Amino acid sequence: MILGVLKETKAHENRVALTPTAVKTLCGKGYNCLVQNGAGEASSFSDTDYADAGAKMVSNADGVVKEAAVILKINPPDNTEIGLLSNGKTWISILQHRINGELISQIAAKGSTAISMDAIPRISRAQSMDVLSSQGNLAGYKAVILGANEMPKIFPMLMTAAGTVKPARVLIFGVGVAGLQAIATAKRLGAIVEATDVRMETKEQAESLGAKFITVEGEGVSTAGGYATEVSADYLQKQKEAVNKSLRLADLVITTAQVQGKKAPVLISEEQVALMKMGSVIVDMAVEQGGNCALSEPGKNIIKNGVKIVGPINLPSTLANNASELYARNLITFLTHISTSECFSYNMEDEIIRETLIIRDGNILINS
Ligand code: NAI
Repeated sequence: MILGVLKETKAHENRVALTPTAVKTLCGKGYNCLVQNGAGEASSFSDTDYADAGAKMVSNADGVVKEAAVILKINPPDNTEIGLLSNGKTWISILQHRINGELISQIAAKGSTAISMDAIPRISRAQSMDVLSSQGNLAGYKAVILGANEMPKIFPMLMTAAGTVKPARVLIFGVGVAGLQAIATAKRLGAIVEATDVRMETKEQAESLGAKFITVEGEGVSTAGGYATEVSADYLQKQKEAVNKSLRLADLVITTAQVQGKKAPVLISEEQVALMKMGSVIVDMAVEQGGNCALSEPGKNIIKNGVKIVGPINLPSTLANNASELYARNLITFLTHISTSECFSYNMEDEIIRETLIIRDGNILINS
């Protein structure tokens, strides 16, 4: 089976679907790999590294798609790439099919097969294929580093001849994969960390990393496939009251809260930003899904009453070398689960295959 790796075309995207190490592993398992020239450059992998690992280098996307049976990418296909697809091709990338109905119809119209890496079920045996986790983990780390860089303060307590500097206070909304890594990173840097989440099972996880958990009294939240569902306006109001004391004291706030397939919940209103100290920083990791802070904007740093609100775009891409490495490992585990080096085997009894196989030979199996 010939696998083709395309150079990413989306703005702010530095990652690549396979690294040279991953190419070497897949070639060792009998797959053939084609890589578009320059595909790994933005994540610090040279064409020579790929060629040395066993890849055949191809000058353009057209050549890759023509020759490969399976096309691997991080992002969904752009219009040009959709135009190149045809019967018998299998496209594998993050597709976010639930919010990209039009794109799914376009791929289906080409008679191709499409597999969505972000649809990997959140179950134990699929953890090693879970791109949302591998990328979210890095994003959680980077959000803290970004916040630290914007703060006019240091994180740890410092006892010096000139006196003692108090440790920074960090407040984290959402204790999922990114939030847990943000807690761990902020703790490692020496901050006092507090966290909150609608899912009560996260209390123990946050506390095990050394954070104080802020519990919101109320109905809590139901979960679907491990994901939080939307909470009521009443709950959001109670949450605001519970966190306001911590918001007033916080030097850095990191928001990670998301509800699958929906706009992110607004957890920090403009009035709450007004409660915060001058010099404090909010890093809104959900800014691309609508934002957890009412004032955040994608790709911008907004300053309101001396509070800096950072809206980072594609945080995993800012750590493209590691992010590509982990994505590629997720892909290898997934590919070897659903195929041999000869062909795919779609066992529809298998939850992993059932949830990720969005289009099979032009037939849409999972609607948005
Ligand atoms: P996510 O990115 O969808 O959301 C981040 C966090 O925000 C979640 O913890 C969510 O509960 C929280 N949140 C949502 N609305 C909120 C609100 N109004 N206020 C405060 N917090 C709010 O979550 P992620 O990181 O993708 O994890 C989703 C689920 O999948 C979790 O239960 C996680 O433990 C589970 N998981 C399971 C894996 C496995 O077993 N293979 C791997 C990774 C995650």
